[in-house]
Amino acid sequence: MWSRYLFGVVDFFVKLRDNRTHMPFFEAEIKTWEDYLRAYERSERSNAEFWAAVADTFHWYERWHTVVEGDFARGEARWFSGARTNLCYNGLDRHLPDLAQKPALIWEPNDPQDASVTLTYEQLYQQVCRFSRVLDQLGVKKGDRVCLYMPMIPEAVVAMLACARIGAVHTVVFGGFSTAALADRINDAQCKLLITADGAFRGDKIVPLKFMADRAFFDCLSVEATVVVRRTGEEVNLAANEYWWHEEMEKQTPERPAEILDAEDPLFILYTSGSTGKPKGVLHTVGGYMTYVGYTFRNVFQPKKDDVFWCTADVGWITGHSYAVYGPLLNGATTLIFEGVPHWPDGGRLWDVCDKHKVNIFYTAPTAIRSLMTFGDKQFENKSLATLRTLGSVGEPINVEAWEWYHQKVGGGKLPITDTWWQTETGGIMIAPIAGITPAVPTYATFPLPGIFPVLLDGAGKEQKYEGPTVYGNLCISKPWPGLARTTYGDHKRFVETYFSTYPGYYFTGDGCFRDEHGYRITGRVDDVVNVSGHRIGTAEVENAINEHPTALESAVVGFPHEVKGQGVHAFVLVVETPEHPEKLADEIRAEVVKNIGSFAKPERITFVQGLPKTRSGKIMRRILRKIAAGQTDDFGDVSTLLDPAVVHDIAGLKYY
Ligand code: PRX
Repeated sequence: MWSRYLFGVVDFFVKLRDNRTHMPFFEAEIKTWEDYLRAYERSERSNAEFWAAVADTFHWYERWHTVVEGDFARGEARWFSGARTNLCYNGLDRHLPDLAQKPALIWEPNDPQDASVTLTYEQLYQQVCRFSRVLDQLGVKKGDRVCLYMPMIPEAVVAMLACARIGAVHTVVFGGFSTAALADRINDAQCKLLITADGAFRGDKIVPLKFMADRAFFDCLSVEATVVVRRTGEEVNLAANEYWWHEEMEKQTPERPAEILDAEDPLFILYTSGSTGKPKGVLHTVGGYMTYVGYTFRNVFQPKKDDVFWCTADVGWITGHSYAVYGPLLNGATTLIFEGVPHWPDGGRLWDVCDKHKVNIFYTAPTAIRSLMTFGDKQFENKSLATLRTLGSVGEPINVEAWEWYHQKVGGGKLPITDTWWQTETGGIMIAPIAGITPAVPTYATFPLPGIFPVLLDGAGKEQKYEGPTVYGNLCISKPWPGLARTTYGDHKRFVETYFSTYPGYYFTGDGCFRDEHGYRITGRVDDVVNVSGHRIGTAEVENAINEHPTALESAVVGFPHEVKGQGVHAFVLVVETPEHPEKLADEIRAEVVKNIGSFAKPERITFVQGLPKTRSGKIMRRILRKIAAGQTDDFGDVSTLLDPAVVHDIAGLKYY
């Protein structure tokens, strides 16, 4: 009798857990301002308990023995130790009992004349299983790295999820990166497999991805096989170890169990730029990333059951990972991905897509908004935008004009805008209004999400506590959260140095920030990183590329304020004598940057100089170049530490090309 009683109790808890893990749709925990305050207080009382409760909304084959352990100050915090799970299972399998026929993925092609594609949860599951088997067959094992160099097509999402399913580690390289940049990333991660396409449509252009990948292979010895999606019909020759996606998929069955993974097993590597020359491979792990991205998606955007969510970011960037793919699918939502560009065939393309697919939540970057502003009101002719309920912004500071335009023209003056601040390293959104619930103030990311503890520190590391009208400092985070990257792939020392050494005990974001009664307002990077159209570009990377040109003795790259792109790249290039054909030389230098990085990093302005403002210790004083680039040449401040102060005025008088 006792055993029956005991079984009854166990059965009750199993059912409770199943109910939770089979919830048909995942509603936000935060529904009111009071909910937000309560959740924040709970996380202040016990960060570990707070995140454990969030993690409990996912499926774990085995629960953790410790929620969080390791020294955060040394970049060693680890989450959900001992737990076993699978993100792909959580994003697909567990929705199948209830959501099999619900659209999981809507794909809008580049050309509006072509048909869009909708995959239900069941169809997406089957494709992912098939591709998981393709990976098995090609010898890809748990822990192996797989590089994706793909257009925004459903196959990219399928490939990411299949890697997550079998425990392979994907590293997506944005299709705008050059052959050389692709090769660098493949080599750093030692990828075993490459998945690409014959080409990518981008507006009226075709990017020949396979052709570019072929050239990278001369340098990439780790790649054992390549899978190619047929998309544009470009002519490609497949070598012996290269396979067509569609042929391999046909051979497989649509079932493949998800691998049972440790919470701290690697999920993906994503390369991003920092202050030093080489891009770093930011590594995220399964359990913490899943918990963080799932929670932030449903709370920040407040999706309703049948909503269509559209994040315009490419899967080559973190926003595409977290909010075009993983966040929505973890919550049983419908995500839309778009292959094309906002201006083609005309400036109304994004709004046509919103109407066609009845988009409810729209998430884009300020640069897209600013460039659409230049198209005027014509873009809204015959557009309804009636289904939109929430707007989001990400990637760079949004200026008041862009915020207002977005709010008025796209949001009809009614829709909440959530300006979400976060980074590749943070995994998911950190500081943002909860759409429609907490106040949205133009240009402010406002308040941190529960479980996130920002502080502002001055140059000496002193906390700038908000007690009065406004404080300013470098934005740091004082406690661990599950979404933080675990390391820089292959170089943990660099991870600690980059993020945990500037301010001992804190994660340093690299951003400057104001805090006043409206909350936090991010002002931009305080390190040598520029943000061009929401793309994070390391100035040292651009300098290295420029210095490849034989005429460039040295170079210094800074950002300048740009009306549409937020920031533009201005390069000061040291040459022996004034070039005879400066335009031609500038074009050649731009070509070096396109070759080594990609055209998005191309310097818009190049000034040829015969001296750079260096201190006696040989450091370039970039603040002076930033002033010159911004056209602020009336006051350079203290230049007494410069080796040759006269150089400043020489440069300020020069023309750029
Ligand atoms: O400077 C901040 C800016 O983008 C940087 C992170 O870039 P990335 O890792 O490429 O991730 C971009 C998408 C999450 C930050 O250090 N940034 C991002 N979002 C905002 C922002 N700056 C101001 N406001 C934002 N909402």
